[in-house]
Amino acid sequence: MRDRALRVMAECGRIATMTEEPGRITRRFLTAPMHVVHAHLRNRMEALGMTVRVDAVGNLRGLWQPPNGSGKRLLMGSHIDTVPDAGAYDGVLGVIMALEWVQIAQDLKSPLAIEVIAFSEEEGVRFGVPFIGSRAVAGRFDPAVLDTKDSDGITVADAIRAFGLDPADIHGALLDPGTIGFVEVHIEQGPVLEAEGLGLAVVTGIVGQSRLSLEFKGHANHAGTTPMLLRHDALAAAAEWITQVESLACATDGLVATVGRITVKPNAGNVVPGEVEVSLDLRHAKDASRIAAVGKLIESANTVAERRGIALQRTDRLDQPAVPMDERLNSFLADAIEAAGMSVKQMPSGAGHDAMVLASRVPAAMLFLRSPGGLSHHPAESVLEEDVEAALKVGSKFFDRLAADSRQIR
Ligand code: HGY
Ligand code: MN
Ligand code: MN
Repeated sequence: MRDRALRVMAECGRIATMTEEPGRITRRFLTAPMHVVHAHLRNRMEALGMTVRVDAVGNLRGLWQPPNGSGKRLLMGSHIDTVPDAGAYDGVLGVIMALEWVQIAQDLKSPLAIEVIAFSEEEGVRFGVPFIGSRAVAGRFDPAVLDTKDSDGITVADAIRAFGLDPADIHGALLDPGTIGFVEVHIEQGPVLEAEGLGLAVVTGIVGQSRLSLEFKGHANHAGTTPMLLRHDALAAAAEWITQVESLACATDGLVATVGRITVKPNAGNVVPGEVEVSLDLRHAKDASRIAAVGKLIESANTVAERRGIALQRTDRLDQPAVPMDERLNSFLADAIEAAGMSVKQMPSGAGHDAMVLASRVPAAMLFLRSPGGLSHHPAESVLEEDVEAALKVGSKFFDRLAADSRQIR
């Protein structure tokens, strides 16, 4: 298994070179490098005897069906889009690991078909809308998203057509009715497993998240001639509010809140900023706490804006409730970890994942691998060979456990 673990890591490293920005890993929704990743994964899938297709939102999908199969299938996979200047494992590891688990299932003559899916858009970087790929598979795609524009003014619909796909076919992305569950292998992206000296964990649930953008609309003016008391400085207003975002999160147990993106117009050193757009990413395990925090921050933004004579516009991007993972699938993963001779760790996920979207349609579960340094969304993101090897061992025990269970998962 050690050589297979090394192959998994080498594959992730190879896909990392398929980037929009040579020298760093950036691969946004339906950009050119996605064609290169698709070609590479298609070869891998076809070599495994899988039939391959690309659905209308750019998810690459490989299906392996055993002879005399029951028509039921397990869905596995993760996303292949990245944040800017990303690491090599967030998302991609889950797709490569799924292909290894297909090989393992074939060797075990598993009676279950497996569909491996490489989701096209999970991070939401290009259009500010996350989970486009998995929402189409789960039947939760919002057609209004098709009109959303990226920073170049290209709409989602244009991007789909430019990739050689047809937005009219999005309904065809819906998962197969014979799908009995979804399993996603993913890096933890946090410090917990490393702190406890553990390599793997079963995910109990995924925290809820709210994503929105706020536009502060003041008045641009001359930096030299405009008296301070006569200004409607959009950036000063946003800055005052951003410190309030941080203060609320620090004061609220279990809440994380991030302003990760800001755009300033006209963005010139000698002009009082007229318009500022900021992102807000807010997460909590309890939906009531998350929603209350959003309410408080919108109220405080309005107070700052009114006092400064600035208009405020809110655009909601995501309102994703917290999602528990499936207990039966989790018990199969836990049994598999135990059967592979490891101690079982169960933990929540602070990061969002496609599994939280699929969970609205089928039983979903996640297996975490340790993140050395707790690092992710960072070029130094990594995994340990021993943990990849352990996850491969869990795969074979998992299929044993699945086959041993005569009842379908749902
Ligand atoms: O942002 C997240 O939680 C995930 O990495 N997309
Ligand atoms: Mn991510
Ligand atoms: Mn991810």
